Amino acid sequence: MQTKITKLFNIEHPIMQGGMHYVGLAELAAAVSNAGGLGTITGLTQRTPADLANEIARCKDMTDKPFAVNLTFLPSLKQPDYPGYVKAIIEGGVTVVETAGRNPVSVLPYLKDAGIKVIHKCTSVRHALKAQAIGCDAVSVDGFECGGHPGEDDIPNMILLPRAADELEIPFLASGGMADARSLVAAIAMGAEGMNMGTRFMATKEAPIHDNVKQAILNATELDTRLIMRPLRNTERVLTNPAVERLLAKEKALGKDIKFEDIIEEVAGVYPKVMQNGDMDSGAWSCGMVAGLIDDIPTCKGLIDRIMKEANEIIQERLAGLLA
Ligand SMILES: Cc1cc2nc3c(=O)[nH]c(=O)nc-3n(C[C@H](O)[C@H](O)[C@H](O)COP(=O)(O)O)c2cc1C
Repeated sequence: MQTKITKLFNIEHPIMQGGMHYVGLAELAAAVSNAGGLGTITGLTQRTPADLANEIARCKDMTDKPFAVNLTFLPSLKQPDYPGYVKAIIEGGVTVVETAGRNPVSVLPYLKDAGIKVIHKCTSVRHALKAQAIGCDAVSVDGFECGGHPGEDDIPNMILLPRAADELEIPFLASGGMADARSLVAAIAMGAEGMNMGTRFMATKEAPIHDNVKQAILNATELDTRLIMRPLRNTERVLTNPAVERLLAKEKALGKDIKFEDIIEEVAGVYPKVMQNGDMDSGAWSCGMVAGLIDDIPTCKGLIDRIMKEANEIIQERLAGLLA
């Protein structure tokens, strides 16, 4: 399937793996790219620019296909060394960068000068238009369903994607709630040029995370995510667990007076404990509603091949059959 996104990124299938903290390591990025999608290394999971340079080199040892690096700009106590990370990306010969959080205007000129394609992930049409205006090549439009940070507008993809299609000139990926061939065909019907998946790629053989996390996703239904940090305007969709329920109880009790320090125990330093040690109740970790659609742990190639085969069947048999 050729779309504007496959051509832009020089990939075989219009499927991207979004950046995921402590999940998007070289093993997963390379597996997705080797399967014909676009894998992504999560920049800030690497503690220093030198570590990121090393991770990019490791990925290049595992694939000769294009892959991306995610650069996330989120509120954080200590500002990461963004210029250093950008330098590591450019010197590493990376061809695509996924930016997220606030708009990437501060790093865009350096990336563009190096010939790097930039896809900005955003949760509203106005932010997508801003990304287009500053010169991003594409956007990933993340609906309310998504795992991670859905923003504060709460617009699901059935509305957000056609709205993006109506307004944007640059190509966009549908992101949030995407799991299978039905997601891909629906996304394309709504004007997207492919899809970006997070949670679905966590439940793959190559995802370099503890088996407990993969099992938790398999066990979860679409009812099992919660929105946390809404009062701080830093909303995150996470899988529920006792720590998340404790955090929500604090949010309820403290109301608008809540501060980040009040919930630090449930959110700080959680990712290595969950993803590496499989300590599932140690705090809040991102997970999409799409967990309700995930019931196996295929290889990335098995997953992507299945999606493309079934997408062909939906288009050529089911949809074309409706017209026959
Ligand atoms: C465990 C996890 C960690 C994530 N970490 C990041 C991150 O560090 N930066 C980022 O831009 N997006 C992050 N995301 C969001 C994903 O890249 C993607 O946009 C999102 O998962 C799409 O929704 P889905 O999970 O329904 O597929 C994360 C998502 C998950 C599930």
